Amino acid sequence: LFTSVIIPAAGQGRRMNASINKQYLTLSGKPILAHTLDVFERCPLINEIILVVNKEEFRICQQQVLKLYHYKKVHLVEGGDTRQESVYQGLKAVNPRADIVMTHDGARPIIQESVIIESIYETMKHQATVVGVPAKNTIKVINVDGFVEHTPDRDYLVEIQTPQTFAFKLLREAHESARKEGIEGTDDAFLVERLGHPVKIVTGHYTNIKITTPEDLIIAESIIKRFDKNDKR
Ligand code: CTP
Ligand code: MG
Repeated sequence: LFTSVIIPAAGQGRRMNASINKQYLTLSGKPILAHTLDVFERCPLINEIILVVNKEEFRICQQQVLKLYHYKKVHLVEGGDTRQESVYQGLKAVNPRADIVMTHDGARPIIQESVIIESIYETMKHQATVVGVPAKNTIKVINVDGFVEHTPDRDYLVEIQTPQTFAFKLLREAHESARKEGIEGTDDAFLVERLGHPVKIVTGHYTNIKITTPEDLIIAESIIKRFDKNDKR
């Protein structure tokens, strides 16, 4: 079994309001992107890592992450204007003999290896899986005037994270088809759902947050400290 992971890291990090791309900010002294890469580099079921980065950030990525942490599995690829485009560029660099491809946000450094492994096993059975956690909050669907339309039953609401894992051919077909029809989705699974293919949920952990706004750094830092203390990683 050959498994590739595509790590989109070519965003602008606008909501972080920092002077550098958020993925080069540090948590416990190590760049966010290095935390993410470490988990996949160590995982024996991952054969290659396709890291998708902005052209202008190749240098900072080399100097602050790749050179310092010595990854053997990483291939560097140039990203696009949207996450979907960045993943598509990554797909073009995947080893043609790959069976399974997963996508994982560079900005989710607290991913646990057990979740990666379960995602791969479940994808061998179902061809398409996404990691998610039960919604904690009540979610309401509203209209354009700001009034509530209805309240979906929380028992059936899941907050989706990454990894999202697919049979390589299926994800490629999903991206090609969306491109052809000018469809832009917020995640990869949506593009597969469009083809009518079922997508199975793998239950993950609330700690797998996406670093998006400044307070996420505080939360992530304390999770990492706690994990290190309990030797959980
Ligand atoms: N991403 C990417 N290429 C893009 C946009 C996003 O590779 N054109 C990546 C980001 O680097 C991130 C992941 O997709 O790891 C999830 O995106 P998000 O958290 O929205 O990051 P940014 O787009 O960088 O942040 P913002 O939306 O606040 O600008
Ligand atoms: Mg974004």
